[in-house]
Amino acid sequence: MTVEDRIEYLRNELHRHNYNYYVLNSPLISDKEFDDMMRELQDLEQAHPDLQDDNSPTVRVGSDINKNFTQVVHQYPMLSLGNTYSEDEVSDFYDRVAKALNEDFEICCELKYDGTSISLIYENGKLIRAVTRGDGEKGDDVTENIKTIHTIPLVLHGDYPKRFEIRGEVLMPWESFEALNRERELREEPLFANPRNAASGTLKSQNSAVVASRKLDAYLYYLLGEELPCNGHYENLKAAAKWGFKISEHMKIAHTLQEIFDYINYWDSERKKLPVATDGIVLKVNSLKQQKNLGYTAKSPRWAIAYKFQAERALTRLNKVTYQVGRTGAITPVANLDPVLLSGTIVKRASLHNADIIAKLDLHIGDMVYVEKGGEIIPKITGVDKNARGILIGEKVAFITNCPECGSKLIRYEGEAAHYCPNETACPPQIKGKIEHFISRKAMNIDGLGPETVDQFYRSGIIKDVADLYHLQATDIKKVERMGMKSIENILTSIAASKEVPFERVIFALGIRFVGETVAKKIARAFSCIEDLENADIETLTNIDEIGTKIAQSIISYFKNPTNRSLVARLKEIGLQFKRPEQDSNEYTDKLAGKSIVISGIFTHHSRDEYKLLIEKNGGKNVGSISSKTSFILAGENMGPAKLEKARKLGVPIIDENEFLSMIL
Ligand code: IVH
Repeated sequence: MTVEDRIEYLRNELHRHNYNYYVLNSPLISDKEFDDMMRELQDLEQAHPDLQDDNSPTVRVGSDINKNFTQVVHQYPMLSLGNTYSEDEVSDFYDRVAKALNEDFEICCELKYDGTSISLIYENGKLIRAVTRGDGEKGDDVTENIKTIHTIPLVLHGDYPKRFEIRGEVLMPWESFEALNRERELREEPLFANPRNAASGTLKSQNSAVVASRKLDAYLYYLLGEELPCNGHYENLKAAAKWGFKISEHMKIAHTLQEIFDYINYWDSERKKLPVATDGIVLKVNSLKQQKNLGYTAKSPRWAIAYKFQAERALTRLNKVTYQVGRTGAITPVANLDPVLLSGTIVKRASLHNADIIAKLDLHIGDMVYVEKGGEIIPKITGVDKNARGILIGEKVAFITNCPECGSKLIRYEGEAAHYCPNETACPPQIKGKIEHFISRKAMNIDGLGPETVDQFYRSGIIKDVADLYHLQATDIKKVERMGMKSIENILTSIAASKEVPFERVIFALGIRFVGETVAKKIARAFSCIEDLENADIETLTNIDEIGTKIAQSIISYFKNPTNRSLVARLKEIGLQFKRPEQDSNEYTDKLAGKSIVISGIFTHHSRDEYKLLIEKNGGKNVGSISSKTSFILAGENMGPAKLEKARKLGVPIIDENEFLSMIL
């Protein structure tokens, strides 16, 4: 046998045994035999790099090479589902479908898995790409991370279509979730609030070896493509199970409303025995033809709906209210409770949201309160049992007046529910929040630094504000974080590269309250340099489109603060872009004035973001969804079918990129 043959043999065997073990739960060989084969394959691949294969079973081990995610446009947008909370609403859905179809139909009942959704693309039986939901239009390419999940097949068997997409939910089973949090507690790392956050956080890890160690699982529930084998959703998924996918065993076809209710009632309690989190039931019209006839609303399919299980609640005593300061300075009141068992965990603390909610509940210390866990693992107080109040009623809960972190007097902005600590430049959680915002993708786009690293850098004193980032040395980082040289280099390169980030994003990155991305763009258009902005008065500011007094005042108060002024001066000296590029002003036209334009699909000449910029520079407005007010759709390749149908229905013109470019020439 040649080395090549041996490698191929091992790969096939490992794929087969992986499937038997992880998907079918019926291993045919011992763990040791499996590990031995894997090791042999790893050794052979290392010795023969020319025989590399991106879908080899060895990729499941992951790698610690730091990698940034690229964004990928979904061929079909990833929509969400309409939610219902009562049997009446389910019955309404059923009636709506019956009326619209006016013929017999089947409903496929499924569990609603509570993880993070993923889109997988297979070509010629091989996994070629895995993308997160993102904003529904485009997501992050997380293929390397996904490949570490054993229940996701890398190569398929049987009679699969040449190209298709399959969507599903990546989950962290309760057991892995609890073990992970136990470990994190020992290492004094922040805990994950729920398995959903743990799964999505893990999937976004830059290090696929970490993903491999986290024991994720995946259920697939939606097959898309031009050449699916069957006419029914249920039947297609059963076929996909034969190709190697993990499909829920608990799908069921219902022919009547009563059968749907039976399914809901059964799983309402039975789901607690499942190894993964579920938060409801999904009901889907089974026939693909009928699905097509029912179509889509702007946000979700008309042929499917989610039914969310009623959250469990418990009654317990309120002992004290404490207050947390968030990254934006927002204050969250937290109820400290007598420990109580709720959905299998002991609850001691619950969120009280804001001062209005406390007042509305007429909360007193010592009250018996109802605690609920909705979709969130962080429970909330939803009511007070006033009958349980004795003659001795405790003190009324009064919202604090000063920041518990820095002592500043709290303020409340008009129209906002939260109280804020205004001490943006010296209140520790706010400083960390500002740094996190500064480095975020839409701001300075500095990679490799997450909230945990920022926290560590801040606590160890190597950065006190965002300007300090630019003076970081590899040796500083090495002192405080156990990080490989490659990761450190990546961070430093990324920091240096951020000096080229354009003016409008630098303005956004400063984190001036109420100055979001759009406002930052308007400001960058109105002022050619930061000095003009620093010295602008309220009138000049409010003259800018979309800037009202609230934003204007916030900008003025930002630049009035000497700490902010000196920070901006330091950043200027470092070389950040505090000026609009010279030629920029010539690029503006009003050729698209008054036009509202939707971008959809994949383009060849420019990226989506560049098209967005072109629309804005020519006076048009880029909008997210199609309506009767849309002037036209700038469409690339693979525009999603839902969008296409909507555009046709509303008579919105569709133009391609060449036509568009000639419009603005
Ligand atoms: S079908 C167009 N089926 O729930 C239909 N979704 O709000 C697309 N989910 O984003 C989804 N279990 O992440 C479907 N059995 C299931 C599901 C499911 C969980 C999630 C999914 C989706 C969200 C819908």
